[in-house]
This record gives sequence, structure tokens and C-alpha cells, in this order.
Amino acid sequence: MKKSDVIIRKATLKDRTALYPLVAGLMLHHRLLAKNKDHLAQLIEVDDISKLRRQWFTKHISSKNSLVLVAQMNEEIVGYSLNFIKDNVRVYKLRKLGHVADLYIKKGHRGQGIAKQFKDIIFSWFKKKRIKYLSIATHAENKKAHSIYKKWGFFDYHIEMRKKL
Ligand SMILES: CC(C)(COP(=O)(O)OP(=O)(O)OC[C@H]1O[C@@H](n2cnc3c(N)ncnc32)[C@H](O)[C@@H]1OP(=O)(O)O)[C@@H](O)C(=O)NCCC(=O)NCCS
Repeated sequence: MKKSDVIIRKATLKDRTALYPLVAGLMLHHRLLAKNKDHLAQLIEVDDISKLRRQWFTKHISSKNSLVLVAQMNEEIVGYSLNFIKDNVRVYKLRKLGHVADLYIKKGHRGQGIAKQFKDIIFSWFKKKRIKYLSIATHAENKKAHSIYKKWGFFDYHIEMRKKL
């Protein structure tokens, strides 16, 4: 695949149905990475994803404070990224954060620079919106994503821990 074969564009409401299997793919990816039962127990069932995500995509595709991108190859959506401006916790001086919520490229299309193209567009979009800091999160087992995010200039900021009762 040549870079020029991929079109990166903003998602429209018509893309929602094509996006659900990609969200399921993202969930499945984390299931396969999960090494212990406590991590596995917290992942939502893949079957529930489309119902849950319909409103989520509708809201973000329609909002001027969100950026939903898709990577299209011929007629197929091979990747997506969902980003939005969020209010920071009110005790902090920094009021707004740009949040990179979802980033997923289908297997078979990875390692070809699609996420990098998303990243460049996402960073410029947030800059135009005068956002100073971005947040991104991934599961602790997702070492590859963590190292890519570091390469892109993200630093570790917050460690969330969980405990089973
Ligand atoms: C993580 C993911 C989004 C990367 O997408 P991709 O299109 O394959 O990434 P790219 O080819 O654009 O490469 C992005 C960068 O990562 C680097 N990279 C690629 N594979 C890497 C690896 N295994 N380890 C470290 N860096 C890697 C590339 O060199 C590139 O660097 P650059 O931006 O400085 O040029 C993709 O692998 C994916 O969807 N994985 C499954 C879902 C997932 O983990 N999502 C993110 C967490 S929520």
C-alpha cells in the first residue's frame, strides 16, 4: 500500500456503522493483551459496543469541539481516531485539555504511517483551538502504544491504579 492510497478525512454520521467493528477491534486488541483476570474482567463485552457507541459517535462527529478522523482505503475504513476538548479537573490552573480518546488502525494496515498522519492532523487541530496540553491513555499492557506516544512527545503524568474488593 502506498501512502497516497489512503485518504485521511473527517468522519461523517454516515461512517458510524463502519466504525463499530473498529471499536470492537480496539476492545478485542486490549482483551488479547490483558494478562490477568482482573484486567479482563473490566473490559466491556464486544457485543455491546455498537449500541454504546452510537450516541458517542453522533455527539463527537457533530461537535465543533471534537475531531473524529477516518482513514479510508478505496471504500474501506481502515482506521479512526476520536479526539475532543475536555474540561480539566477544576482545582487545576489549566482549564482545558485536548484528549486523544481513541486511536485504532486495522491489522494489516499498521506500520504504514497512518497513525502518524492522524497524529499530525490532530496536533494541528488542537493547536488551532489554542489547546496547550494533550492527554492520552492506554492500558498498562499496551507497551507498543505507550512507546509510540512517548516518541510523539507525550510524557507519563498520572498513574491510575485499581483494586478488586
Ligand atoms: C498503535 C497504532 C494506532 C499505531 O498505528 P500505525 O498506523 O501502525 O502507526 P504508524 O505506522 O503511523 O507509526 C507510528 C509511529 O510509531 C512507530 N512505531 C511503529 N511500531 C512501533 C513499535 N512496535 N514500537 C515503537 N514504535 C513503533 C513508528 O516508527 C512511527 O513513528 P513516527 O510517528 O515518529 O514516524 C496501531 O498499531 C493500532 O491500532 N494498534 C491496536 C490498537 C491500539 O493499541 N491503539 C492505541 C491504544 S488505545
